[in-house]
Amino acid sequence: MAKVRFLPEGLEAEVPAGSTLLDAADACGAFVGSACGRKCACSTCHLYVREGARALSEKDDREEDRLDMAFDPRPGSRLGCQAIIEDGEALVVVEITRESRQAFLDEHPAERKKLEKQSEPPPSPGSPPA
Ligand code: FES
Repeated sequence: MAKVRFLPEGLEAEVPAGSTLLDAADACGAFVGSACGRKCACSTCHLYVREGARALSEKDDREEDRLDMAFDPRPGSRLGCQAIIEDGEALVVVEITRESRQAFLDEHPAERKKLEKQSEPPPSPGSPPA
């Protein structure tokens, strides 16, 4: 099984060869968007590969074209739904782009609420319950 780590949270998934980075994100609950349903028709699954790029399939022209339209593409940019893990023993480390995280939270309002609750300061003693 290959291991995929998603930054900044550090969530990890173990997935078999043939899985996509987006499959790995789904397996561990990482905040990676997928607005078009994995059809290479958006860029909400845009990730930066930090380690393990050689374990992934090559980019094809469709993915390159779509990444050209993504926000802040970089040399390590991949679409999570198109990057297939070919080496089943690899460690792949990816950073979730701001664009992708935002798209995920837009698609999952319950997760957004949980995050907002976690970032609220604790109620001060004597204050009424929220
Ligand atoms: S989910 Fe739309 S391009 Fe990957």
